[in-house]
Amino acid sequence: MTRIEVKPLATSVGAEVFGVDLSGNVSDAAIDAVRQALLDHGVIFFRNQSLDVDAHKRLARQFGEIFIHPNFNTGEGDPEVVNIVRKPGDTHIVGEEWHTDTTMMAEPPMGALLYAIEVPPVGGDTLFSSQTMAYERLSDGMKALIAPLKCVHTDRKVAGPNSPIAKAKRSTKARFDEDWRETRNAHPVVRTHPETGRKCLFVNHSYSIAFEDMTEEESQPLLGWLMEWGHRPEFTCRFRWEKGSLAFWDNRCVKHLALHDVQGYDRIMRRIQIAGERVV
Ligand SMILES: [Fe+2]
Repeated sequence: MTRIEVKPLATSVGAEVFGVDLSGNVSDAAIDAVRQALLDHGVIFFRNQSLDVDAHKRLARQFGEIFIHPNFNTGEGDPEVVNIVRKPGDTHIVGEEWHTDTTMMAEPPMGALLYAIEVPPVGGDTLFSSQTMAYERLSDGMKALIAPLKCVHTDRKVAGPNSPIAKAKRSTKARFDEDWRETRNAHPVVRTHPETGRKCLFVNHSYSIAFEDMTEEESQPLLGWLMEWGHRPEFTCRFRWEKGSLAFWDNRCVKHLALHDVQGYDRIMRRIQIAGERVV
């Protein structure tokens, strides 16, 4: 059996994992090692993988139920798959703001497996940021201030006919139709990771709009500050994709951003999300 090797990319978050072929029947021991690497590093990366849709789904199911996204229908009729495509000329891409995925849900996904099918020769990297470190580096006073707060998360900025991106030139369409309905839930600003027990910040630009029982205007100074603080450079790592790369992030404690810095090339990714639980 090949030994699995884990090499950190930064002190804060992210590691590359070597010595595992994810396309076949992955042993229980290898799955345990991958899960431990995810818990240790927040996001893990694999190179030179060969994953068709079935293998991708099989892998996801080793870590939980597959999450069905309510606002995307880009999986060629398969609701378990979200194809994320950027074409030359797109003025917007999916995930270009710092965010955690799909946090308007009562039970946001625990993670995602994003697989690179076609990538540009340079550019289109993804940045990740440790929300565990972002929380731990706050002062005791700030930790005490935000401890009792909840924040309202909504998908109205990223879906629906009034979304600012509804009319943008973006190849990957969310639901922007008139029949779409907003999903809105409040979560603690500081959540406790259900597996590691560590506290992390849980607010993000794509979904968080206001503290519960406060107006957006009242919330903005502190909420905006917390969201910006959450991606200070020392909390981050940056991943350069190759065809066949796979990223697996822990959506409970890591934020990410897709860099929109390259034109003239296709970028084709396949994402499968893993179901999560209520945020506490
Ligand atoms: Fe995302």
